[in-house]
Amino acid sequence: QQGPAFDVNAMTLTRWVLAQQRSAPDATGDLTQLLNSIQTAVKAIQSAVRKAGIAKLHGISGDVNVQGEQVKKLDILSNDLFVNMLKSSFTTCLLVSEENTSVIEVETERRGKYIVCFDPLDGSSNIDCLVSVGSIFAIYKKVTGGNPVEADALRPGRELVAAGYALYGSATMLVLAIGKGNGVNGFLYDPSIGEFILTDPNLRIPERGNIFSVNEGYFAEWESGLQKYVQDKKAPKTGKAYGARYVGSMVADVHRTIKYGGIFLYPATKSSPNGKLRLLYECNPMAYIITEAGGLATNGKIPTLDIQPTSIHQRAPCFLGSRRDVEELLTYLK
Ligand code: AHG
Ligand code: MN
Ligand code: MN
Ligand code: MN
Repeated sequence: QQGPAFDVNAMTLTRWVLAQQRSAPDATGDLTQLLNSIQTAVKAIQSAVRKAGIAKLHGISGDVNVQGEQVKKLDILSNDLFVNMLKSSFTTCLLVSEENTSVIEVETERRGKYIVCFDPLDGSSNIDCLVSVGSIFAIYKKVTGGNPVEADALRPGRELVAAGYALYGSATMLVLAIGKGNGVNGFLYDPSIGEFILTDPNLRIPERGNIFSVNEGYFAEWESGLQKYVQDKKAPKTGKAYGARYVGSMVADVHRTIKYGGIFLYPATKSSPNGKLRLLYECNPMAYIITEAGGLATNGKIPTLDIQPTSIHQRAPCFLGSRRDVEELLTYLK
């Protein structure tokens, strides 16, 4: 049986967030406002990503960021959108971005109680060949009095109040987790009305998958336990081998892991002893979402969400995915 051709009562992201706010007795509406500003940034970024070739937005900006990466034009545009939309929402006091060396303090007149850490454009090496990219964000509430300072952002992922990502893939989807125990919801962008529609309520990651996702080019630089794990996935003594998938955009690799199950790995290497992914705006928000979806996220020693950050751009090894796959990996790691 076919559904109605046109939904006249669609659950949009804006409506859904408002409903959450209405059901929380002490909510002020600030988080709703904040999420609306992120939604605007994401809509604008998806539009820019999709017409980048036409609008001459491909290629490098000529700058190098604090991580030593070549910054792309779309990295800058996405960062400007996030920063401007967040500041003008009157709900934030401190911003941490991959593309800004230091924390951004919001001007006194526009300050609110939230701290947002974000990766404005994830997977930027994939932009110019039209492979999926994304955006990632993590939201804390400021708990101390006084002016916002860097230390306010250096908090374990456990303390996040919300986290989400947008995937600019074959379609655009925004995935959001608000509060512990409330699960994860996915909203697909409908460009014809310019709204995100709830299409994936209560996303749950399969208990176990059959896909592993890692950049195997660095195999020689891994610890032996990890080499053994990947070897066993490819040539198991019993049972079927796992499939290999690696987009190279964390958002796309994590989204596939949530939908299909399996494991995503960005391990330490000899030359990068903490791996590559950044704790505050890559590992933590994804760990928060994966955990809320019923999966596990670890740095190989402790849950990612328990790591105490010491600097805003610090990196951490990242292993996340289906609960039983991550548990199995941990038996291989020392
Ligand atoms: P970003 O584009 O935000 O700098 O992030 C790139 C990250 C992440 O998206 C991906 O998982 C990883 O880099 C891929 O790194 P390798 O090319 O080393 O596999
Ligand atoms: Mn980058
Ligand atoms: Mn990234
Ligand atoms: Mn990025």
